[in-house]
Amino acid sequence: MGSLRGKVAFVTGGSRGIGLAIARALVLEGAQVAITGKSDAHLSAARPLIEAEGPASVETLKADVRRYEDVERALAAVVARFGGLDIVINNAGVGIFANVVDMSPEQWSEVIDTNLTGVFHVCHAAIPHLRRRGGGTIINISSLAGKNSFTTAAAYCASKAGLNAFSEALMQEVRYDNIRVSYVMPGSVATEFAGGDEAKGADWKTAPEDVAEVVRDLLQQNPRSLASRVELRPSKPRK
Ligand SMILES: NC(=O)c1ccc[n+]([C@@H]2O[C@H](COP(=O)([O-])OP(=O)(O)OC[C@H]3O[C@@H](n4cnc5c(N)ncnc54)[C@H](OP(=O)(O)O)[C@@H]3O)[C@@H](O)[C@H]2O)c1
Repeated sequence: MGSLRGKVAFVTGGSRGIGLAIARALVLEGAQVAITGKSDAHLSAARPLIEAEGPASVETLKADVRRYEDVERALAAVVARFGGLDIVINNAGVGIFANVVDMSPEQWSEVIDTNLTGVFHVCHAAIPHLRRRGGGTIINISSLAGKNSFTTAAAYCASKAGLNAFSEALMQEVRYDNIRVSYVMPGSVATEFAGGDEAKGADWKTAPEDVAEVVRDLLQQNPRSLASRVELRPSKPRK
């Protein structure tokens, strides 16, 4: 099992929900962690929660994954502060749910640009930094919606199905550079995603910490083998 102590991790959408749980888990393991988000208030609120997990350094960066210049600037700031980059967690994502006929082109773009193009932006800018370290790990947070389509979710399901294909192609592109690419497909997770309210009978759902545990285990896997795709579902979903 590889130690994460001193490794440098970049977690998009690390200010809330699953990304926040991942950032906390990585600091607990001794990694230095930078998180991104759109809202300054959410980033400020997240910082003490992450710092409370351990003495490792934490950086918060306002950066919208839809904007390539934001992503490039954020990654450059991380490398300048920590001296390099080892781990990239592409977690930032949005869900807008409506039938295709009712969905505006702007809503479609928001979902695809965040969940799919945003991951391209981060990987495109991060891979040269990982190569300079001699390798690293990229973990993309997808969704079971990427393989199980349902009504009102055409944009979301398409974004995550695209992310799955992107992740598999990228995995094959960079594996001989010692860059490991995996994607995790959670089912329902108790967060505020898409306006969800975790207080309302969400006890059957997976917790953000459960996704973080999978991410931590992937990062600590023996490098001889690669768990490139993980499906994580609630054990007993609501019937
Ligand atoms: N919750 C579920 O049931 C579930 C299930 C399967 C997969 N997932 C996936 O898991 C990931 C995290 O979901 P979550 O439930 O933790 O969501 P969440 O609680 O809504 O948190 C989303 C995070 O992403 C950030 N974000 C959104 N758009 C962004 C952008 N354009 N640029 C940078 N950051 C952005 C948010 O920052 P701000 O606070 O600044 O907006 C926030 O930190 C998503 O990719 C989602 O598709 C979720």
